[in-house]
Amino acid sequence: MAPRTPDTPTGAPAPLVDRYGRVHTDLRISLTDRCNLRCTYCMPAEGLDWLPRDQALTDDELLRLARIAVHRLGVRTLRLTGGEPLLRRGLPALVARLAELGAELSLTTNGIGLARSAPELKRAGLHRVNVSLDTLRPERYAALTRRDRLADVLAGLAAAQDAGLAPVKVNAVPVRGVNEDELVDLVQFAVDHGYRMRFIESMPLDAQGAWDRAAMLTADEILAALAARWPLVPVGRPGNAPAEEWRLDGTPHVVGVIASVTRPFCGGCDRVRLTADGQLRNCLFATAESDLRALLRGGADDARIERAWRDCVARKAPGHRIGDADFVRPDRPMSAIGG
Ligand code: 5AD
Ligand code: SF4
Repeated sequence: MAPRTPDTPTGAPAPLVDRYGRVHTDLRISLTDRCNLRCTYCMPAEGLDWLPRDQALTDDELLRLARIAVHRLGVRTLRLTGGEPLLRRGLPALVARLAELGAELSLTTNGIGLARSAPELKRAGLHRVNVSLDTLRPERYAALTRRDRLADVLAGLAAAQDAGLAPVKVNAVPVRGVNEDELVDLVQFAVDHGYRMRFIESMPLDAQGAWDRAAMLTADEILAALAARWPLVPVGRPGNAPAEEWRLDGTPHVVGVIASVTRPFCGGCDRVRLTADGQLRNCLFATAESDLRALLRGGADDARIERAWRDCVARKAPGHRIGDADFVRPDRPMSAIGG
């Protein structure tokens, strides 16, 4: 039974629902917009103008919002993202406090530093990790991320597996002319180590605005490349998950494809996002935000914050409309929203 604060309504919270009947049970929390890599499809070599520290939510502020989400809005899964969430100071203590809310708790990381922190994050109550890894070749990794850190990521993955942060998922963004020749190798690597491989279509969310649809590998192309090596048996979409899964025939292994661009899953979206500076976004591609930090710092009570949250979700658009003539990119890049 979750602990209750005096102004927490009793009984099951009313669902966080939008005009289209989509119920939101998944909250993604960006812990920082900073990153220790500079993936070419994400940000420029010089990095970005990071958020000044006083604009980022404190642990107490963040925890209060997460508590409202779980206790008053029916959120059941919390995912910690970045930038790179392992860069957040005092992360294990924050994880331990979040874990007390009772929601499923996972983390999306580039894996740098995970080798050291995986056991302590597991002890703090983290359930799972997703690790970003686009290539297994050290020189290519250094060119793609502009940092020579492949060995750290591989060690991080192994440590996560050893710590029981399972299932360990590996995310790769296939880009034409960059890593398109490695899809089979990445799946084989995941199979060999007991990780779950997922490919993500690249989305127009880079800070440079250089996204090129022609450079994106589509789900069909990804599946064709894999099918040349393994017969693929469709196993569908687990729950509301954005990943469609295929089993490598004759094996217990599954691979996921997140086709945000060519097969949008907006109709089943159950996500809402909180940025490191306390702005609530009802979509990765939203062009408006709800300023929860201003409410927090202005002394609003939980009921007022709950109302703002519900209003923000109610305004959610039916879909992202990438590819439409009037598609507008969001002001924030992926690294400042959280994946
Ligand atoms: N399109 C698709 N995926 C992206 N990621 C980062 N930028 C993009 C983009 N523009 C991925 C990261 C990570 C996950 C959180 O999102 O590689 O795996
Ligand atoms: Fe960092 Fe992730 Fe962006 Fe790479 S994609 S630079 S790991 S935030």
